[in-house]
Amino acid sequence: MSFANLGLVLIGKQGAGKGTQGAELSKHYDIPHISTGEMFRELVRLESPTGKELKQYIAKGELIPDETVIKAVKERLSFPDCAHGFILDGFPRTITQAEALSDLGTPSKLDLVINLEIPTRLVLQRLTRRRVCSNCGANYSLDSPPKVPWICDVCNGKVTKRVDDTEQVIQKRLHLYEDQTRPLLQWYKTRGLLVDIDASRDSNEVTRQIVNAIDQKLKDKKDSKVSNNYEDDIS
Ligand code: AP5
Ligand code: MG
Repeated sequence: MSFANLGLVLIGKQGAGKGTQGAELSKHYDIPHISTGEMFRELVRLESPTGKELKQYIAKGELIPDETVIKAVKERLSFPDCAHGFILDGFPRTITQAEALSDLGTPSKLDLVINLEIPTRLVLQRLTRRRVCSNCGANYSLDSPPKVPWICDVCNGKVTKRVDDTEQVIQKRLHLYEDQTRPLLQWYKTRGLLVDIDASRDSNEVTRQIVNAIDQKLKDKKDSKVSNNYEDDIS
């Protein structure tokens, strides 16, 4: 594990592995993994007033209104555990959300956007085989089940299918990705923040590629800080 000052966004189609990689990277860099989907599913599980409002959006595979999402993320990023960095999974998903994130400034400054690139046929396979804990949201699949059949390794909760992992809802979510989220790739590319990663490979290999990209970025950041300090000293 290494400690990092890092603002990271994971973008990718549904089932590309944002949640899987976010969890690994959070352990590796000791910074929080913030999945907006998981934040909202938790509110639904708690049956809070907001959760009751959001339930239908999630079940139908529709995007939650920007205003609600931005407010929730801003609040989460203000928690003390984000002082040294964050990994955003599933946010931003629209240009309006990306603009809101760039307006936040330090310490929520974004260093890198990882685009998990994967063919649609593969994500369809992954999503139909995915299972999650209905209590804590831990991720499993038919290929990597919990140790005791369909009882969560983490919290002993019941492991089931996500409500939005039906064929019809998956198609809707993928359509929204193409329409609303794909334009963000160009948006971040023009800002020099985007790195493409082949997410169709083995999960450990994908993690390795992302860690290499992040470490390179952190090194560049450190080098430019040293060179700026040197220029300040001699001026
Ligand atoms: P969210 O929870 O973010 O869902 P999503 O974007 O549809 O993405 P997924 O969680 O389905 O996929 P993932 O990329 O995390 O893949 P995973 O790692 O699980 O959002 C849900 C809903 O919340 C939205 O539809 C919307 O309603 C709302 N919402 C959330 N954010 C919002 C926002 N910003 N604005 C508006 N609304 C918002 O992997 C999938 C499966 O594949 C797993 O079983 C995993 O074990 C397996 N797997 C992963 N990597 C590999 C690999 N390399 N090889 C083989 N298998 C793998
Ligand atoms: Mg996810």
